[in-house]
Amino acid sequence: MTMTVEGHLRALPKVELHCHVEGAARASTIAELARRNGVALPVEDPEELFEFEDLNQFLDVYGVICRSLVTVDDFRRITYEALEDAVAAGVRYREMFVSPAFVMGFGVPLATVWEGVAQGLADAHADLPVRCRMVLDVDKPSGPAAAMELVAFAAEQDRDVLVGIGADSVERGIDHAAFAPVFAAAADAGLHRTCHAGEDGPAANIRTAIEQLGVERVDHGFRLLDDPELTRRVVDEGIALTSCPLSNVLIARVVPDVGHHPFIEQRRQGVRATLNSDDPGMTRTDVTDDFLAVHRELGADLHELEQVVLDAVDASFAPDDEKVALRSELGAEFARLRDMGSPLVDAAPVGASATGERR
Ligand code: HPA
Ligand code: ZN
Repeated sequence: MTMTVEGHLRALPKVELHCHVEGAARASTIAELARRNGVALPVEDPEELFEFEDLNQFLDVYGVICRSLVTVDDFRRITYEALEDAVAAGVRYREMFVSPAFVMGFGVPLATVWEGVAQGLADAHADLPVRCRMVLDVDKPSGPAAAMELVAFAAEQDRDVLVGIGADSVERGIDHAAFAPVFAAAADAGLHRTCHAGEDGPAANIRTAIEQLGVERVDHGFRLLDDPELTRRVVDEGIALTSCPLSNVLIARVVPDVGHHPFIEQRRQGVRATLNSDDPGMTRTDVTDDFLAVHRELGADLHELEQVVLDAVDASFAPDDEKVALRSELGAEFARLRDMGSPLVDAAPVGASATGERR
């Protein structure tokens, strides 16, 4: 039996570390929940809103979408469906963001959000071949005091469900260093730490996230290579990037296409850049599309793509024994797929790979 490149990359078991549950919601579900909750969306079909000029405009649409999410069951449902869609993209392990500031701004209690998300995870774990933990994202424009309240909430939750704290939303005009006490409190509480930085903002924001917020990963880190000294540090300290190439094309619009994305050059320089979908519902993509795009447009070969998955295992916030089990499960699955006659096996490198020449 032979397999297509697309079939192989869809079946490739994956680990995804950067996906927002609200941004993963299906447009059809958002439309249905809006109707049920009596929320007027500006359009009949939310997909009509999914054209963005930049990150700030995307976040405005994000706010509109979040208006539809009101009840515990709404959050249970989008969490469960996000994981159904993850399974269809080959994801075996995911760490998923929830950003409660948007809906809290519309009067939905944090406890409602969290109860629904936790129920969605529990249901998904019972039904689906995927494991997921959550990262609570603070909303940078809401400021450090609001963020501190989220950290206090996170510190009280089951650590096996809520593993860490992140920070998202706009980057322009944000003083990232002001969140240092928030991240220090998260560290004191034993929470893992990550932060969106260098997405549509400069490498200086990545430096601040690492040096002043003490993050263990950087979400996006698109602009890292602008600062060679910082790049060396990221390599030496093994700090992973959760890159989202298609999101960077479709949302922040910082590159015209994946062929111009620094992902492969970052990896060639030794950075542990991983592949992630970011907001798959709103970009109408999934993480398999990111794997396909970096293969087709940046020439990443199968070995490279398997290594990306293994780097994501290392960079995950899963317990060490689970990482060991995951690595061996993935290795066996990689080998099984390699035996299925895929053209990716033994294919001459297409253009460049991280270990080859840059296009
Ligand atoms: N960047 C910043 N904030 C976000 C994103 C993103 O990619 N997705 C959802 N909130
Ligand atoms: Zn993101």
